[in-house]
Amino acid sequence: MSVSERLERYRSEGLGQVKGWFEPDSAELMAVLLLHQIDLGLRGGAAEIGVHHGRSFLLLANGLAPGEGAVALDLFEQQGHNTDQSGKGDRRRFEKNLERWAPDVAVRMVASSSLEVTPDNAREVFGRPRMFSVDGGHTAEITRHDLRLAEASIAPGGIVVLDDMLNGHWLGVLTGTATYLLDAPALVPFAVSPNKLYLTDSTEAAADYTAHLRASSPDLLGKREVEFFGTTVDVYGQGAPRHQVPAPAPPTGPSGPSGPSGPTGPSGASGPSPELRRARAAARRARREAADLAQQLAALQATRSWRLLGPWRRVAGRVRRWALRELAWKH
Ligand SMILES: C[S@@+](CC[C@H](N)C(=O)[O-])C[C@H]1O[C@@H](n2cnc3c(N)ncnc32)[C@H](O)[C@@H]1O
Repeated sequence: MSVSERLERYRSEGLGQVKGWFEPDSAELMAVLLLHQIDLGLRGGAAEIGVHHGRSFLLLANGLAPGEGAVALDLFEQQGHNTDQSGKGDRRRFEKNLERWAPDVAVRMVASSSLEVTPDNAREVFGRPRMFSVDGGHTAEITRHDLRLAEASIAPGGIVVLDDMLNGHWLGVLTGTATYLLDAPALVPFAVSPNKLYLTDSTEAAADYTAHLRASSPDLLGKREVEFFGTTVDVYGQGAPRHQVPAPAPPTGPSGPSGPSGPTGPSGASGPSPELRRARAAARRARREAADLAQQLAALQATRSWRLLGPWRRVAGRVRRWALRELAWKH
């Protein structure tokens, strides 16, 4: 099976069966990028901080070329260090899912807090991955720290994918990202997709990935060149043509476009609709009633007893004025 076929199989069958947090649009975009990296001749494998049951890790694993491997770092059974309770790594389930969806991939599991790794020894732990997914602790401190680990270890031209930067429940990730990006970062953001921010290590690489995504996934592209920390990113998923709700179909029925009388309805090319005809008939009835009322009032005023009605005259005057207005009204 080719890498492309493996990715397709995992996206269509595996994604629905492995529990975790990974949106299909983002899986599609990451698959496109993994394949593009292979076409560019980039090698180095993949790494993820925070694997939970392996939902996103398995996409990375299926996007590797022969000879590449992947590193999975998670607290696993040391959940006492999971300060923000973001997910819960489960080694047994992760291994089961690996066996099911990526049995031939060389995976190195590291049971540790990412805070125990430093930028200086990051390459010893992660190697030089071409795609590095950051999805571990969701505090500002851990996010900034993990971005630095990714920055220190990715292969030249590699991609860092950060999870949950726009998730309102995890604003520590946004805070950590801002802190990182405002402090002379080596990584350049180039795209956003549901729950993911994509960064790479140079403006040239960012321009290449941007152009490739625009060409390969136009129906997922929601907005180009959105301002973001001194650069711009393309936004995928949100507002994309693929997700736009189609305009409601025109009404069908006797006067609708597909009605039995053809596009203009039973009364011909310029005939009014049934609703308009009903409204005009109601208006004619109202005008007739107003005319009758005006006549009755005129007859009443002509009688001697009118003078005795006193306060009722003002009311009658108002009714008469209303009736005259109704008479003057034209539909
Ligand atoms: C949101 S989940 C990961 C979701 C996963 N990537 C997926 O595709 O569903 C976060 C994971 O990070 C792990 N984690 C939390 N804090 C960590 C830390 N300081 N170092 C390493 N892993 C951590 C948790 O055990 C959990 O498995």
